[in-house]
Amino acid sequence: MIFAAILAGGSGVRMGACGKPKQFLTLGGKPVIAHTVERFCESPDFEKILVLCPHDWTEHTKDIMSKHIKDSRVRVIRGGGSRNGTLLAAVEHIESNYNVTPDDIILTHDAVRPFVTRRIIDDNIKYTLKYGACDTAIPATDTIVESGDGMLIDNIPERSRMYHGQTPQSFNIKELARTVRSLTPEEEALLTDACKIYTIKGLPVYIVRGEETNIKITFPSDLKVAEALLNERDC
Ligand code: CTP
Repeated sequence: MIFAAILAGGSGVRMGACGKPKQFLTLGGKPVIAHTVERFCESPDFEKILVLCPHDWTEHTKDIMSKHIKDSRVRVIRGGGSRNGTLLAAVEHIESNYNVTPDDIILTHDAVRPFVTRRIIDDNIKYTLKYGACDTAIPATDTIVESGDGMLIDNIPERSRMYHGQTPQSFNIKELARTVRSLTPEEEALLTDACKIYTIKGLPVYIVRGEETNIKITFPSDLKVAEALLNERDC
């Protein structure tokens, strides 16, 4: 079985006060999250598409799904207090409700990346089945500067070796559950990225080529870029 988990449990602090978390803001006439879930519904490969939202927004999310999505594979469930907590909530839901086999995989995707493509989704499925874990990334175009104190540069890594991480991040479900549960509380606090957990534990993570357009809506200016991308796509 192949599952999708749309991570929508965040509150969007960097977006500023706009009355609702950014995944519920309107983009081209419908909520951002509706665009994102739609992209996954286009694939027949998913057994279930889980949408994980903040507890207080469950009814609102269900309303959006029934109004804009109408796909019987979609399930709205409660996210966690951190992004990894939301990821774990998805894994626990799957473990409790489905008979997970060693071959089953999950694609996890930020609800606020509505421009994920079918090619990216298909590649995540293909390479997670092959390697056990995938991250989606694009080559860095800016030079990456490393600094511990934010004032003096410690290191400037070779740009050709640098990538920007996007999502989906995808995993074999049983291995993900085992790996996340093996973390100490200290590791859990430090390792905010699921793929980083894998690399630290020495597990392979394949890089799926992302797209420049697979942007994450983080700041108000990103919503403007998203509107422009949507207009261009729909032209
Ligand atoms: N996310 C989640 N559960 C959390 C925190 C984040 O599912 N407890 C999701 C967000 O909803 C988003 C994705 O992770 O789709 C990427 O995270 P980010 O852009 O950091 O979202 P927020 O945490 O909402 O934003 P901010 O950091 O500005 O508060």
